[in-house]
Amino acid sequence: MTRHGGIARGSGEVGSRPLALVTGASRGLGREVARRLVAEGFTVLAGVRAPAAMNPLPDVEVLPLDVSDPASIASAAASVKARHGHLEVLVNNAGILLDEATGLMDLGAGLLRRTLETNAIGPLLVAQAFAPLMGKGGRIVNVSSAGGQLSAPSTWSPAYCVSKTALNAVTVQLAEALKARGIAVNAVCPGWVRTDMGGPGAPRSLRQGADSILWAVLQADPGLTGGFWQDGKRIDW
Ligand SMILES: NC(=O)c1ccc[n+]([C@@H]2O[C@H](COP(=O)([O-])OP(=O)(O)OC[C@H]3O[C@@H](n4cnc5c(N)ncnc54)[C@H](OP(=O)(O)O)[C@@H]3O)[C@@H](O)[C@H]2O)c1
Repeated sequence: MTRHGGIARGSGEVGSRPLALVTGASRGLGREVARRLVAEGFTVLAGVRAPAAMNPLPDVEVLPLDVSDPASIASAAASVKARHGHLEVLVNNAGILLDEATGLMDLGAGLLRRTLETNAIGPLLVAQAFAPLMGKGGRIVNVSSAGGQLSAPSTWSPAYCVSKTALNAVTVQLAEALKARGIAVNAVCPGWVRTDMGGPGAPRSLRQGADSILWAVLQADPGLTGGFWQDGKRIDW
């Protein structure tokens, strides 16, 4: 793999580093992806909703960003436009899982709305706000879940699963909307990973989960868009 996966800064300036934004980078997979993108030669913005509470991450610029708050998204995009003027990679990673103990027949509208706002509407609004800073060769990676697969239904965490199905639909729509501009948009499942969300009993390490996401950022053919992937392999919707 070449440094920053061969992704060049779009502005035409020679020798400068491409810029990547990772949402939900305070902990878990987002933090690991941010750390690894620094090692790959990117300038990395860690989108974080509570910057004061975050353990510092070396060589990463913290960007206040609550993906469930349109005003926060607008202010983050304005700040990146003013300070950097370009963006090459967006990893829509921020996510919540609130209903592991709730069955669909008991699911309240408030919990479903809250989950959709963070896991599906947020990534769309973030993409809408930041895509104008991206050029040909740009990549948007939406961190989804096998829980969103319509081909593999279950009764587990219905709001979370519905939100990830919606995120997959957003991915397909965004891929079509941005195809003419040469921006690839893909959804990735990291597998079941040992994070605060995944819990200590999950089979996959942080590194393995991040590898699945980073494949779409660094290794996927730039022409691949509108797909759902895990470990570099296409998976069913
Ligand atoms: N772990 C798994 O097994 C697994 C499996 C499949 C998919 N995923 C997906 O992978 C992604 C990362 O999961 P994870 O396991 O790393 O979860 P995690 O450890 O719970 O971390 C979630 C991250 O999202 C952030 N976040 C939540 N709501 C936010 C908001 N409104 N604005 C900005 N940031 C917000 C959190 O920030 P705070 O620190 O401020 O709370 C935290 O940084 C999620 O999209 C998740 O659905 C995870």
